[in-house]
Amino acid sequence: MDDFDALKRHIEQTLKIQCGNYKEDYIKRRLLSRMRSTNTTNHGEYLKYLKATPSELEVLRNALTINVTEFFRDNDVYEILRKEILPDLFSKRKRLRIWCAGCSTGEEPYSIAMILHEIMSTNKELSVQILATDIDKVVLAKAQEGIYSPKAMVKLSDAQTHHHFNKLPDGNFQAKPHLKELIRFRPHDLMGGTPVSRWLDLITCRNVTIYFTEKQKDDLARLFHDALVSDGYYIMGKTEYLGRQVENLFVAKNSVQKIFMRKD
Ligand SMILES: C[S@@+](CC[C@H](N)C(=O)[O-])C[C@H]1O[C@@H](n2cnc3c(N)ncnc32)[C@H](O)[C@@H]1O
Repeated sequence: MDDFDALKRHIEQTLKIQCGNYKEDYIKRRLLSRMRSTNTTNHGEYLKYLKATPSELEVLRNALTINVTEFFRDNDVYEILRKEILPDLFSKRKRLRIWCAGCSTGEEPYSIAMILHEIMSTNKELSVQILATDIDKVVLAKAQEGIYSPKAMVKLSDAQTHHHFNKLPDGNFQAKPHLKELIRFRPHDLMGGTPVSRWLDLITCRNVTIYFTEKQKDDLARLFHDALVSDGYYIMGKTEYLGRQVENLFVAKNSVQKIFMRKD
């Protein structure tokens, strides 16, 4: 076994991240960035450092599952959600079930929750549950806490900030209970082969599959197809796409914003 294999094995045992699920090139690039930061020059040296420095494990986890996100990322998609998709779904059902897969620190599910809260406040018969999941428990804990710096809040209007967040004494903002109670955060591995739930009306999985192989992306599209109700929606990241093998499972509702509807 060479040093790279030994390192991968150590990662799998300690972090429970299955390296084989990711492209090798991706794992190597992320490791390289950690090796530069820790002044180690090869995989063997980095493995020794990792074993000797417990704090490096969490840093490596974050590097392997990069979790950059923001509120209302790609604003147009949220406008379509607000004006078209959510009204369409609510015209068919009074209670919606939404899965936000790969939610990172929570900005995506909280953005959806803000829109839903605004819609639901004009019709008390409507309700929703958002399941927000991620493989990375560190980001999930942050999401659950719902505390964001003023810099993270720039895409929100003053009214949204005031209405949905409490300002804390240290200058940060925390999501108010009325937003939090719409969302359940849970750890979940999208490569595990099972959905977090079924009979879902909407699944958002955005900017998560960039490093998945083609087969993993296709398997995930099939998993989402199984988990959605017959006219449910699936929203991908703007730069992601449906593979040839699975494109017949969905109808494109907006091909620029990567919004699809499940086909039977
Ligand atoms: C770039 S963030 C995207 C956050 C949000 N969806 C957005 O578009 O802003 C990608 C997230 O996917 C998560 N992720 C990566 N691999 C995953 C897997 N196999 N299962 C679940 N989540 C995963 C990462 O932990 C990270 O938080």
